[in-house]
Amino acid sequence: MIFIVSSNCLLVKIERADIIFLMVTLKNLRQQISTVAASVEEQLPQINETTRCEELRVHLLGRKGEVTQLFKLLGKLPPQDRPIAGQLLNELKKKVTAALACRLTALGSAPQQSQSKTERIDITLPGTYHPHGHFHPLSQVQQKIEEIFLRMGFTVAVGPEIETEYYNFEALNIPAHHPAREEWDSFYIDETHLLRTHTSPVQIRIMEERKPPLRIICPGRCYRRDNQDATHSPVFHQVEMLWVEKQLSLANLKYIIELFVKEFFGKRYQMRFSADFFPFTEPSIQVHIRPPYSTDWLEIMGAGMVDPIVLQEVGYDPDQVTGFAFGLGIERMAMLRYKIDDIRLFFQNDLRFLHQF
Ligand code: PHE
Repeated sequence: MIFIVSSNCLLVKIERADIIFLMVTLKNLRQQISTVAASVEEQLPQINETTRCEELRVHLLGRKGEVTQLFKLLGKLPPQDRPIAGQLLNELKKKVTAALACRLTALGSAPQQSQSKTERIDITLPGTYHPHGHFHPLSQVQQKIEEIFLRMGFTVAVGPEIETEYYNFEALNIPAHHPAREEWDSFYIDETHLLRTHTSPVQIRIMEERKPPLRIICPGRCYRRDNQDATHSPVFHQVEMLWVEKQLSLANLKYIIELFVKEFFGKRYQMRFSADFFPFTEPSIQVHIRPPYSTDWLEIMGAGMVDPIVLQEVGYDPDQVTGFAFGLGIERMAMLRYKIDDIRLFFQNDLRFLHQF
């Protein structure tokens, strides 16, 4: 320990290490740099293992390495010497890194060369097969539907799978004790929350948030208390379509549906409309299609003009705007398009099934 008396006569205590730092000059930094460089030059050719090479790298360039420590001295130099010292140190670091890399390749390539003398690669052997994954058929169908509507200027919207009774029923003109609730036999979570039974509540949520005009499709998972069989599943997927604007009519709705069905199934599928009832649309329709391989008409979606009561509920003026909507089941669409006769296949994750799409 050393004591020195500073100019204003205060006694300052200085540790030994500080003294070294205090005395850093460009000259002795230069010396230290050349010492390190010389020792690397001397040591490297004697190293014959890659692990020793790595050890030396850590010793020099690691967090506490010799070169790294030298960088820390930069701040102790008089400011005018720092740029040149920094340059010297960077050169040292570059040189050391390059020398280490060079030695490493020399060590690594030596065994390779002898190996290639004794062994040959048989390029006629078949390669290893790496199977590619792909989207689940239900996702593919959903994407296809989205694609068709995105081209028509729709945007995709989503809503929660756990819904309140208000959004799943009441706002859609299905009050408590209304017999229509039986159509949507539900899984309740508590007194007022349930797993949504259709994607129609997303219509309400989006209309509450935005002003007309509005063009959305809402894909998503839905839940109903149905026993599982070849055509029913308690978990399934729907896509909802909603368009609200001035002067929309049932004819516009039919046109959009026809366009969509042609795009999705192709021209060989026939289509027909019939009357139906939903509490949230008036009038309501049902859409059937007949695939070329079948003689039966199969229902693919429910649709209709949004009931003025629903528009009012979200604060829209039914005298100013009208709207139409439909809801379709993705499983049903996939089954018809790919001739699948059992809905359970979608949920079993059997690769023999999934690979076919
Ligand atoms: N939400 C209805 C259902 O799940 C389908 C539907 C949607 C009907 C929109 C009309 C309009 O059965």
